[in-house]
Amino acid sequence: MLKFTKQQVVAEYLPASVAPQSMDDFSFAPSNIALCKYWGKRDAELNLPINSSLSVSLAHLGSKTRILLADGGQDEVLLNGELLAPDNSFATKVIAFIDMFRRGADHPVRVETENNIPTAAGLASSASGFAALMQAVDQFYGLQLDLSLQSAFARMGSGSASRSLFNGFVEWQMGQREDGMDSIAAPLAAEWPDLRIGLIKVSTAQKPVDSRSGMNRTVATAHLYQSWPMQAAADLSRLHTAIESRDFELLGQTAEQNALSMHATMIASWPPLLYWQADSVTAMHKIWQLRADGLGLYFTMDAGPNLKVLFSAADEAAVCEQFPDMQVIAPFGRQ
Ligand code: PMV
Repeated sequence: MLKFTKQQVVAEYLPASVAPQSMDDFSFAPSNIALCKYWGKRDAELNLPINSSLSVSLAHLGSKTRILLADGGQDEVLLNGELLAPDNSFATKVIAFIDMFRRGADHPVRVETENNIPTAAGLASSASGFAALMQAVDQFYGLQLDLSLQSAFARMGSGSASRSLFNGFVEWQMGQREDGMDSIAAPLAAEWPDLRIGLIKVSTAQKPVDSRSGMNRTVATAHLYQSWPMQAAADLSRLHTAIESRDFELLGQTAEQNALSMHATMIASWPPLLYWQADSVTAMHKIWQLRADGLGLYFTMDAGPNLKVLFSAADEAAVCEQFPDMQVIAPFGRQ
């Protein structure tokens, strides 16, 4: 079967030539936490997922990026004020992303990215990073692409970036098309001002297996993965019900079961993939015990050892007393 390349797909939506112009201001995109996870690709080139997913964006926590015409003859990528070596893996991905839009034109760029996600929180920044980069590319080249197209293109940088173009609850539809142009995210109308997310930091060391290789390994080797698309579809529908009816228990239960189901498929891979550390498991047991004692809190986890705890504003003081070092985010702001 003939597959599309990223360049082919993007080229369909670009003008014949582009006129880059240095940006004065930075573009910003929030980080996001999936309540129903994206795990497994049906197309690795375009980052097309096997299942739809649903996340909540982290308001002011994320990445800001701007693109300038570089003074020297070389592309430059700066992360948090530091110039990266040209062969740095983040710098290579950023430049490869920009190459999809510059159409071979010879204009070296300087890309400046800053993450305000505290590195100590152990949060991934690839989602907000590629969403902010997409918005910056749109401005730098004066493309004026609508947010759906930007979501589809940001997805090609990192799957979860498709969701970081929007605030609040966001659903990324897996789509069916071969070129992936129906695999885009869109925000839900619903808000949940009382929702809180706490970040429990277990480790911030770089993970040994990134999510791209992790999901490829799972799809290729875990028989258990076959049940994942069914689990995800059921969870997605439960999350819609929970959000529509502001049913916190249903939201928390669904998110926690979804995360543990995803991790079960990883554990069943070969070689086995276990992102948890001993402290992750200790935190899980503590959460289960607190829940048994009547406190309303649930957790979710991504491809790493850290936990993200879901709870309501009314329980914030009680939860923070149990986890004093936890950073708390109000995704819909504080009333
Ligand atoms: O977008 P990626 O390639 O970093 O993958 C993200 C995978 C998870 O964080 C585990 C799940 C998700 O939906 O964000």
